Amino acid sequence: MLREQNSINIAVLVSGNGTNLQALIDAESNGKLGNGKIVYVISSKAEAFALKRAGKAGIKYEIIERKEYSDIEDFNNALLSALQRCGAELVVLAGFMSILGEKIIKQYENKIINVHPSLIPSFCGKGYYGLRVHEEVLKKGVKVTGATVHFVNEIPDDGDIILQKAVKVLDNDTSLSLQKRVMKQAEWRILPEAVEKICQRMADKKEIK
Ligand code: GRF
Repeated sequence: MLREQNSINIAVLVSGNGTNLQALIDAESNGKLGNGKIVYVISSKAEAFALKRAGKAGIKYEIIERKEYSDIEDFNNALLSALQRCGAELVVLAGFMSILGEKIIKQYENKIINVHPSLIPSFCGKGYYGLRVHEEVLKKGVKVTGATVHFVNEIPDDGDIILQKAVKVLDNDTSLSLQKRVMKQAEWRILPEAVEKICQRMADKKEIK
């Protein structure tokens, strides 16, 4: 009962395959998400495979397609009302490919986290997402890359860093093999770990109130 009282409602925002969402779903079912409870998934793309993962796990989901909204403001207002409607206390961006507006970031200050496929501050910021990050890593010839989980503020990939994990770059790596290894060895581990940590902190704060 206590756990229920202290559970932290998580909304996960997705746009694609949803392997990071899957890592969170698996962590929760293995009791590794602590107080965290995934209550809602929102996708900015109707065809996102992440929605199938949510459906299979019995998690309610909604499609709020970026392309349906001519104005980014209206898109963000639709996101905000969905987040409030589902009672989200923590928002996790897991491969979410749209920019969140000032209003949502203010409303959920220090309660939005994102997973980025590099060791911030390297290979991040405007235009650095998905495969492009790994292409740049290979182009630069760095020997170590990895992933970062960080708080979201109004500047892309600029919020306080929560967790990072390094991954070796191999001589025969392609951007695809590197992306896969960074996901497997870093993203899918540190995202659930970071969510568990933040939810514990939030639950402790709730308890004190
Ligand atoms: C991941 O590489 C993540 O770091 C980045 O977008 C990709 C999404 O993958 N933000 P998935 O949808 O979680 O499989």
